[in-house]
Amino acid sequence: MARINENYQKLQAGYLFPEIGRRVAAFAAAHAGAEIIRLGIGDVTLPLAPAVVEALRAAADEMGTEEGFRGYGPERGGYGFLVEAVREHDYRTRGVEVADDELFFSDGSKQDSGNFQEIFDASCRIAVTDPVYPVYVDTNVMAGRTGEARDDGYYDGIVYLPATEENGFTPDPPDRAVDLVYLCSPNNPTGAVASRENLERWVAWARECGAVIVFDAAYDAFISDPDLPRSIFEIDGARECAVEMRSFSKRAGFTGVRCAYTVVPHEACGTTASGERVPLNGLWARRQATKFNSVPYPIQRAAAAVFSADGRKQTHEQVAYYLENARVLREGLGAAGFTLFGGVHAPYIWMRTPEGMGSWDCFDRLLERAHVVATPGAGFGPAGEGYIRISAFNSRQKVERAVELIREAFAAS
Ligand code: MLT
Repeated sequence: MARINENYQKLQAGYLFPEIGRRVAAFAAAHAGAEIIRLGIGDVTLPLAPAVVEALRAAADEMGTEEGFRGYGPERGGYGFLVEAVREHDYRTRGVEVADDELFFSDGSKQDSGNFQEIFDASCRIAVTDPVYPVYVDTNVMAGRTGEARDDGYYDGIVYLPATEENGFTPDPPDRAVDLVYLCSPNNPTGAVASRENLERWVAWARECGAVIVFDAAYDAFISDPDLPRSIFEIDGARECAVEMRSFSKRAGFTGVRCAYTVVPHEACGTTASGERVPLNGLWARRQATKFNSVPYPIQRAAAAVFSADGRKQTHEQVAYYLENARVLREGLGAAGFTLFGGVHAPYIWMRTPEGMGSWDCFDRLLERAHVVATPGAGFGPAGEGYIRISAFNSRQKVERAVELIREAFAAS
């Protein structure tokens, strides 16, 4: 008999977004003709930028010629043109040098942040902020790095760091050592952004206790204040203790196109049981070479077009459009008396549920009375209870309408 990986049976319910999808589908089936406004999963809605489409087309044409055809991509995933564009535009502009063999391209930061734990021992102790992007927790549960889920929603064996209104949703490091910690800034789901001082404390702590920081910067393009760090490598010492993930999904509408990258600096190391230090870069290279065959050439050309003069302008406009949606939500709902956080340097608004409602009750109220889909905060961890996440990814017109409908849904109570 093929024994299953029983760690999967520790997972609580289904993955959050399919679960929401099921509830919305049931509602839609029962209310034919209802116009549902989707501000749940953070999926982009604007079409691809013209510069990106042009590059995709040109690359597809190239692939149809003898000289332009390409098979498997380069070893670490990235063609030279994309590696260079990232080094120049994402890092040198912020005063950060990244070597070409420190960049690993993939089909998404979800995959990278979920897979990275594979190069660590099952005994590693992990820490996450709470609430948190569920992928970090679930992949460690699957790998057997946790105990059972408790009734209060926490897994034994994980160190949870509450992200609260009091700490601005950017917790400081724990007062004990862990091996692996996941940080996401701008944060999914709270929309909070880590200050330079906060990241300095994290880097100092990680170097002190030998921890590795998995820094998810998938939403960095939404940071509009130039003084806020967009990369953890802007912090001195981070190269010794951190890896960083970035994505083209939200910055350039690639959720259905798929391209992302992870930076693994040469200095970042783990240890063997006997205490020998081993660079993470080589381990990740080995893992990727075994399990992944790089991002298709036309997609990499499309990603590189994001850095062209036209591409930069067009994708900045897209990000600005979503940030303006976030402002409309923040101000419209704020004026109606709701308590809101985030949405300034992030496409997510983190709203305290009115009347002390539970997150899923608030989700149901919004769906039933406003026909608006949001994401219950409790789906991101126990400390998300009492909050709901509203995404700014939709058309201006639908976002404006959602503000009215949400106000009415609660005015009527
Ligand atoms: C979200 O809504 O949290 C995101 O879309 C998830 C993701 O990027 O995988």
